[in-house]
Amino acid sequence: MLPTPDAPVGGAWSSSHVPGVWTMQGTDDLPQYLNVRMPFPEFPPHSPAANPTGVYERAVDVPAEWAGRRIVLQVGAAESVLLVHVDGQPVGMSKDSHLAAEFDLTGRVRAGTRSVVRLTVVKWSDASHIEDQDQWWHGGITRSVLLYATDELHLSDVTVRASFDGSLRVDCRVRDTGGALPEGWYVSGELDGRLLTQDAEFDRFNREDERVSDFLGEARLTATVPDVRTWNAETPELYDLTVRLHRADGTAADTSRHRIGFRDVEITGRDLLVNGERVFIRGVNRHDFHPLTGRTVSYDDLRADLVTLKRFGFNAIRTSHYPGDPALYDLADELGFYVVDEADIESHDHAHEIADDPRYLNAFVDRVSRMVLRDRNHPSVIVWSLGNESDYGANHDAAAGWVRRHDPTRPVQYEGAAKLDWAATGDATDIACPMYASLEECVDHALSGRQTKPLIWCEYSHAMGNSNGTLADHWAAIESTPGLQGGFIWEFWDHGILQRVNDGRPVGRGGVGLYDNGVAAPGHRWAYGGDFGEALHDGAFIADGVVFPDRTPKPVMYEHREIAAPVRIECFRHEGIVLGNHQHFRGLAWLAGEWELSLADGRTLTAPAELPDLRPGETAAVPLPFTLPEDGGEAWLTLRVTTAADEPWAPRGTVLCVPQVRLREAVPQAPTASQNRSVEVDDDGLLVHPLLTSAPTLSLWRAPTDNDELGGMAPRWRDWGLDALVRKVTDVRRTPGRVTVQAEYACEAGVVRHAQVFTAVEGGVHVEESAELPEQLDDVARVGCVFETVAGLDLMEWYGQGPWESYPDRAFGAPVGHHAVPVDELFTPYLRPQESGGRHGVRHFTLSAPDATGLAVALDEPRQVGVSRYRAADLTAVAHHDELVPGAGCVVHIDAAHRGLGTASCGPDTFASYRVAPGVHRWSWTLRAL
Ligand code: GAL
Ligand code: MG
Repeated sequence: MLPTPDAPVGGAWSSSHVPGVWTMQGTDDLPQYLNVRMPFPEFPPHSPAANPTGVYERAVDVPAEWAGRRIVLQVGAAESVLLVHVDGQPVGMSKDSHLAAEFDLTGRVRAGTRSVVRLTVVKWSDASHIEDQDQWWHGGITRSVLLYATDELHLSDVTVRASFDGSLRVDCRVRDTGGALPEGWYVSGELDGRLLTQDAEFDRFNREDERVSDFLGEARLTATVPDVRTWNAETPELYDLTVRLHRADGTAADTSRHRIGFRDVEITGRDLLVNGERVFIRGVNRHDFHPLTGRTVSYDDLRADLVTLKRFGFNAIRTSHYPGDPALYDLADELGFYVVDEADIESHDHAHEIADDPRYLNAFVDRVSRMVLRDRNHPSVIVWSLGNESDYGANHDAAAGWVRRHDPTRPVQYEGAAKLDWAATGDATDIACPMYASLEECVDHALSGRQTKPLIWCEYSHAMGNSNGTLADHWAAIESTPGLQGGFIWEFWDHGILQRVNDGRPVGRGGVGLYDNGVAAPGHRWAYGGDFGEALHDGAFIADGVVFPDRTPKPVMYEHREIAAPVRIECFRHEGIVLGNHQHFRGLAWLAGEWELSLADGRTLTAPAELPDLRPGETAAVPLPFTLPEDGGEAWLTLRVTTAADEPWAPRGTVLCVPQVRLREAVPQAPTASQNRSVEVDDDGLLVHPLLTSAPTLSLWRAPTDNDELGGMAPRWRDWGLDALVRKVTDVRRTPGRVTVQAEYACEAGVVRHAQVFTAVEGGVHVEESAELPEQLDDVARVGCVFETVAGLDLMEWYGQGPWESYPDRAFGAPVGHHAVPVDELFTPYLRPQESGGRHGVRHFTLSAPDATGLAVALDEPRQVGVSRYRAADLTAVAHHDELVPGAGCVVHIDAAHRGLGTASCGPDTFASYRVAPGVHRWSWTLRAL
């Protein structure tokens, strides 16, 4: 018996946006971010007595023409418990915050009259313990509410199986809410205009089999489509299927429409195959998120998410950690994504107790089965996931058993089941889908001879802040190691909620236009854990996506785009450039190309590229498009690949990748000393230069990235005192045109000796530096120099990798070339300010004012360079972007060595080869006025 809630106490009704969470609509119950910990101390299945509850009431005029029809109320999603009353009478209840619930109101409402529908949404319940996903806690009705009517005789279910070989089977289930099924009903179908009729063999079997009751209401349509256009993520061919239910007289009682795709999924050995092809899974984990609505996403939002992913080379989505909005799957079918559909089960905080607790058994099977029943007709869904981070127990096996029996056409995965042994068999997972396992571990497993299942990380490469180091190294290994097939980056979104700084409230729906390019408008910021005054929270761990809260791509997206390049330069040989098609299903006809030759002396030559007609996996040599000029120094050839025509997800001309190859190496050139010029160095050994406001000194510190902080490096660097080196000059020696300075930089962990030799050269000064790091400083952030410039230099131009931010272990997607970016735009506004804006492999650069005055720096070899309006100390001192005050000049870092970014905030650190070793580091550079 359901309780009938009283009218709300203490005041009048107010209005609320539905769909929408109340936590973002002016109530005192605000969003709270927690990762693992539950927001209340009660043990499962208990919940706290103080329980935020939303009572939504609405009068509905039931259309007169619905007389005699079946009337259904659908609530798209409510978190976490939904109670339904109509005209004061209890109707039903439901749980699962991310699935729709339907209530048959036939007989409870009357056509042509007004009824009052009350939806009571209770925030905390036994279900909260299995919805403990790492995200904001909200409350409300997050997807649309719908009232609809059908004939009493209706199609209660349609299940489509469309296979790669063109065979089609449509199983229909027919019900009559009026009672027994009427005589003579039948179904028919239409597939892209082609008529489908009821399968007589199936009917005969049903008639003759005595186990089948007369009331079964089952019918089947079958067909074989010749020359079928098969579905895959590269060419997502869809067919329109209409299924009609007829009464005996031929009139249609019900119609159901589907967009279907012909494709097969299977696991053979340790390969996951789509249409027989071992496809690479270039995936991302995606939550339903929006910075203004919290959890409610519109069709347009979803489309924009998927379009963004497509443009950056992603082909797969894991719906972490619950079934996504239904439109997501339609869009994935249409645009082409492989979807791992995940059930709404995460009991993280009490995982061990719940996995085997029979009180939760039904909830596990209910949540998994309802997801499967909802989504099984989508070709995009290739794998069912039983949920996330819930240990492993009998409840999982029960759910896996149901799925395997009900839908044998798709594999099942569950990370927790494979955790103990990726090679085990007979458990609840068909895929070994680890989270954050190191590359080494995965490669070892693939080479061990023990591998029994495909290995696809369900989560890897944690995108918190300035991160995703070694992504290209991972993909080099995946593509060359049989048994490794890819993974899902954690995660798509930085879940920053747009917040007003003055009153700390979420802005909500009215905030359209209050952000741009990843940055919140003045007076606003992206809130993360703790910003709503939550006593319990997990801080910026919620800001760990490859896009900002407004969907602006972070630099890692360009890295990913290049890693996923459909066409690549394999090598440069005598006969020319060897190109390869790295897709699984498509030729190259949909792509266009342009060659670009970029010479160190500043020249860039272009020529149209004719892409060869290559099938997937094929390579061919094409002639070198340019005669390489004799002079010009280092030379790089780039193939700019774009869409040749409009794609549903990208207009013609959208850049998809920029593979490149070096045609000629640089010849090192030392600048010649200029005897009759002088260089000015003060008594403290500091360079004096009219364009510098602060002389180059040694830097071993960077504003810690989230990886540095959570991975434990930054705390160590602080203990060592790298953020507060004490400089002491020990020797200044002057000869004509040259000054040699020796200095010592002291910190807790020892003394670093730093030498600078300043030599006057034509138009400027040449600086040779060396720093000797004692053994104790065995893993620092950087070794290099930092100086500051006069104001007014607002454009950086360089020859090196770019144009976007790049670091030693995240530089694959930044091609070498001539780049120009305004100084203010070099910076990447990671939600929690940290080291950002670096450019890797810089050979030379200028910083100039609009009148073309400024400075030029030439480097001895490709170096990591950082130009910013902020000092590392400024970035380190604040928690949010809006607290930063940009300086007028530029802070310039030139690094002999810079530590890779890694992913240590959750997962492996960068590889040893990207760390900064102790010992002697040398670098040199030349500074000139423009
Ligand atoms: C995983 C988890 C995700 C998220 C991630 C860290 O363990 O499945 O939900 O918490 O770590 O950001
Ligand atoms: Mg978790």
